[in-house]
Amino acid sequence: MKQADIGVYGLGTMGRALALNLAEHGFATAVANREHDWIAPFVEGASHLGENLLPAYDLETFVTRLAKPRVVLFMIPSGAPLDAMLAQVLPLLEPGDMVVDAGNADFNDTMRRTREVEARGLSYVGMGVSGGARGARHGPSMMVGGTPDSWVRLQPILTAIAARFEGDPCVDHLGPDGAGHFVKTVHNGIEYADMQMIAEIYGLLRDGGGWSAGDIAALFRDWSSGALASFLVDVTAIALEEPDPETGQPMVDMIQDKAGQKGTGRWTVIEALKLGQSASTIEGAVAARAWSANKSLRETAATTLPGSDLVGGLPGSQMLEQALLAGRILSHAQGFGILQAASDQHGWSLNLARVAEIWRAGCIIRSTLLNEIGAALNEDMPQGHLLLAPRMVEALEGSVPALRHVVASAVQTGLPVPSLAGALAWYDSVRQARSSANLIQAQRDVFGAHGFERIDRTGRFNGEWG
Ligand code: 3PG
Repeated sequence: MKQADIGVYGLGTMGRALALNLAEHGFATAVANREHDWIAPFVEGASHLGENLLPAYDLETFVTRLAKPRVVLFMIPSGAPLDAMLAQVLPLLEPGDMVVDAGNADFNDTMRRTREVEARGLSYVGMGVSGGARGARHGPSMMVGGTPDSWVRLQPILTAIAARFEGDPCVDHLGPDGAGHFVKTVHNGIEYADMQMIAEIYGLLRDGGGWSAGDIAALFRDWSSGALASFLVDVTAIALEEPDPETGQPMVDMIQDKAGQKGTGRWTVIEALKLGQSASTIEGAVAARAWSANKSLRETAATTLPGSDLVGGLPGSQMLEQALLAGRILSHAQGFGILQAASDQHGWSLNLARVAEIWRAGCIIRSTLLNEIGAALNEDMPQGHLLLAPRMVEALEGSVPALRHVVASAVQTGLPVPSLAGALAWYDSVRQARSSANLIQAQRDVFGAHGFERIDRTGRFNGEWG
């Protein structure tokens, strides 16, 4: 019987798509799933792939169908279900075999699992996969953690199935243990911020300008071939164009304004705070999704709490486009700052330019801006910070005035723009040579004798406060 090159366990949307992508690229792929009745219909529906899809109806058979040393890829929820699965599968595997977690895992769990699995002589790879179902099926962007030896084994397979940007496969080995999952987490954080800032612009047009969904769709269509060209702007236009088959109204107008989230945005903010980094654009997005769930409180507050009497003055569409561009640059700069800090903390030696390069195609945040960011990260950056790279400075010079104008007008008319405003507040904090933290230090010393540094000589001092 044919032995499989790789096994995919978990036939949800992403697992099915990845298995089909692998099989189509000539890799014999064993497939299994906890709900056994999903397996046969899936394999029968892809009969053109013949022996490249090998069904297994229990874990033991799944493992025996794999050529040694085995590669087992899990595409299942990465919390408790993955730990339970590892407890079952590890006794069936042998030293030299490899386990790949391709789900969205908390990188702290990936670090722990790497230690536990590798202590048994097996390899463990935490791999971020982005691109949604279509990406997984036709070419995702993949962020690979683990040892260099694991990468040597996986590289031919992953390179074959990855998205390509001008021929360059959007996959790479980024660092040991949790590095791949951390980079994927921050990717999702940037994704949250980008979606939120797009939604904020939509909100300004709808609530400040009275624009219809169709008009806003046309504007996003227009932007999708300019400086904002990106998958998420395209997705937004599609979402705004579609009518509801039942009512004929724009679909988006029929959707309840309560956003879901699975946790990666929140993880990004938590890790950023632990690393002393700003993630204001991402935090704005996570909090906005969380607040959106408080529908009844918002409905009460809408008629109870005072707003603004100022009306009108919606900035022009070019101004909105530039404001969104500035916000996008700043949220990416926050994301790359978090990546750099984590790399320093964990000794990952992340190649940030390479991260930007493998995000240029296949993944959800792919955009023309990422080409620019990749180029900027390859050039000399004052203070080693993306924000100070000459091409980013130039882009910000052209777009920050618009961001200022748009945030100011939203604030004056009482419309919420938490991520855009967070971006601007961070930008102004970064460019403030003398901040107001001297007063914070004085306050801390007054009530807690915490001490401070002086501007005129070195050492630690306390004040004699009145
Ligand atoms: C994913 O990784 O599935 C999405 O990109 C982010 O998911 P969420 O918006 O459901 O948290």
